[in-house]
Amino acid sequence: MRVLSGIQPTGRFHWGNYFGAIRQYIDLQNNEQAFYFIADLHALTTVREPQVLRQNIQDAALDLLALGLNPDKAALFRQSDVPEVSELQWLLMTVTQMSLLEKCVSYKDKKAKGIPADAGLFTYPVLMAADILLYDSDLVPVGGDQIQHIEVTRDIAQRFNSIFGEVLVLPDAKTLDESAKVPGVDGEKMSKSYGNTIELFPGEKPLRKRIMSIKTDTTPVESPKDPDTSAIYQLYQLFASPDEQAALAVKYKKGGMGYGEAKETLFRAAWVHFAAARARREQLAADPATVEDILRAGARRAREKGAEVLERVRTACGLTSRKAFLNADFRV
Ligand code: AMP
Ligand code: TRP
Repeated sequence: MRVLSGIQPTGRFHWGNYFGAIRQYIDLQNNEQAFYFIADLHALTTVREPQVLRQNIQDAALDLLALGLNPDKAALFRQSDVPEVSELQWLLMTVTQMSLLEKCVSYKDKKAKGIPADAGLFTYPVLMAADILLYDSDLVPVGGDQIQHIEVTRDIAQRFNSIFGEVLVLPDAKTLDESAKVPGVDGEKMSKSYGNTIELFPGEKPLRKRIMSIKTDTTPVESPKDPDTSAIYQLYQLFASPDEQAALAVKYKKGGMGYGEAKETLFRAAWVHFAAARARREQLAADPATVEDILRAGARRAREKGAEVLERVRTACGLTSRKAFLNADFRV
């Protein structure tokens, strides 16, 4: 059973990414063969500054490793370090109907948001299909917004198989538990595009400041407050034990506690929660060579599997066997 997922390095990860996705990827590494990659080729559809992309990729690797992704268990790699994926994308594109891509909601959404409607953005789901199919992935954990892309992947694989034989493995989606939608500082869903995120690893001062900026109503200090409609309380639930949560709920309902105090409680809990990861991140950031080794070792593992699947695909379509070709002429 192979689990695979990708995450785009389009900016710094936030609490929503961690509780909604990353934490669940990390849990899955323990009982499955896991491949996780930093989707830098996908990020190119929106990030057009090379130095920003480079930094984002590095930050993504540091964050994932610091948060507990264990490279001895899961292969962690950069998508673009496996060139086989781009080749497979082309081969898949030749059997992908335009109408299938035209139906994709995320393309329409992104276009509506003003992201340039380049061919790369339009064919993005085919690259995602290649990401998945290249490694015979069985299970793909993704957020709800990506489920349609897994269906597209299955459609493309089925079409390929119906033309060329049973070559590609059909993956299943595993919907991540996003039931606890993480609210941002304005109370709306935390999202980079709303500018309301709380990042995972700011310094103590900036983190406190960000938490203090959480929007609250004007209930006076002495009045009782409703924890269930408070973003501060919802965020606190991500970090606190049931007893701690109950204790804060009592303070809300009793009155006499200002939101500032609740925010300070949240800040403390979050600061402690990420303390170990923060220390690991600092260590790794000071040792880029080790991070690079991890990413390269991950890419080697991924390429080994990817080359095997691509070989199957190439020969099924009538292309030459890459193995024979490489050995004969193009050994580099
Ligand atoms: P994005 O960067 O918005 O594409 O987020 C990547 C993944 O992180 C999503 O597919 C979700 O699984 C998760 N995620 C992002 N924001 C939130 C949130 N506010 N609450 C829960 N999960 C989230
Ligand atoms: N498109 C996904 C997102 O924006 C990231 C991604 C790229 C991915 N390739 C993938 C996720 C393959 C799962 C499998 O979140």
